[in-house]
Amino acid sequence: MPKIMICGRGGSGKSTLVTLLARALAERGKVLVVDTDESNLGLHKMLGLSTPAMTLMGCLGGKPAVREKLLASLQQKGDENTGFFADGLNLASLPPECTGGEWPLRFLRIGKIERSMEGCACPMGAVARSFLKQLRVDQDEWVLVDTEAGVEHFGRGVVEGVDLVVMVVDPSHEAILLADRAKALTAEAGKDFVAVLNKVDTATESFLRRELTAKGIPVRGAFGFSPEIMEANLTGNPLPAGNCREQVNELLASLSF
Ligand SMILES: Nc1ncnc2c1ncn2[C@@H]1O[C@H](COP(=O)(O)OP(=O)(O)O)[C@@H](O)[C@H]1O
Ligand SMILES: [Mg+2]
Repeated sequence: MPKIMICGRGGSGKSTLVTLLARALAERGKVLVVDTDESNLGLHKMLGLSTPAMTLMGCLGGKPAVREKLLASLQQKGDENTGFFADGLNLASLPPECTGGEWPLRFLRIGKIERSMEGCACPMGAVARSFLKQLRVDQDEWVLVDTEAGVEHFGRGVVEGVDLVVMVVDPSHEAILLADRAKALTAEAGKDFVAVLNKVDTATESFLRRELTAKGIPVRGAFGFSPEIMEANLTGNPLPAGNCREQVNELLASLSF
């Protein structure tokens, strides 16, 4: 079953879509949500889960240790390390201190910027890429990868570890331009790419469908503005169970898995 990366511009609804998909897929099997956004602090709240005790970076000894390993590997092999995790990594063998929640829905954070002047987030990108490339998923298991805004995760190669990229497109010209760029970057990595519209009404939905179709981008779903989603995100409460169920099920059916 696929590992799906959700991307889009800031505030488009990436974490919201991850949450809606995670809830729906958890009724069908096991779901691991992987948070690769080093600035996003509230995804576990949207999911209604506890924060894991440690980030994956923490489990690997912290950023300095990871950075050292990456540099050593670069010097020895001329490539960044891909050997952080043992062969056969799967949902059952995840370090328990790194995951929050209980099956069928668990949550893992790659790493967060925790101190001023600690340096860039590139080591987190390398760990995310290595982790996702190594992670095997069985029948009725899904991995949903929430990302930071924009296209940096493509540059960091995180896309190499997933099977499908879902781009959230909100009603803006910038989002259309970003979708075009993300489609090209996804194609370079040899992965599938689809768009999902968010916060649309009838007029903006048909405009976006026309624009994206003209660019050869398949649109697989559309979500309207939901006051319940806005309210939950304002107050820091979990997204209401069953919210947008019909649209989520339509989207999952059109992704055909
Ligand atoms: N379908 C929707 N209806 C209403 N508000 C939404 C919807 N999708 C997202 N939002 C709001 O937009 C904001 C950004 O959503 P979020 O999922 O955090 O975006 P991202 O992860 O892309 O930055 C949040 O305040 C959220 O409540
Ligand atoms: Mg987010």
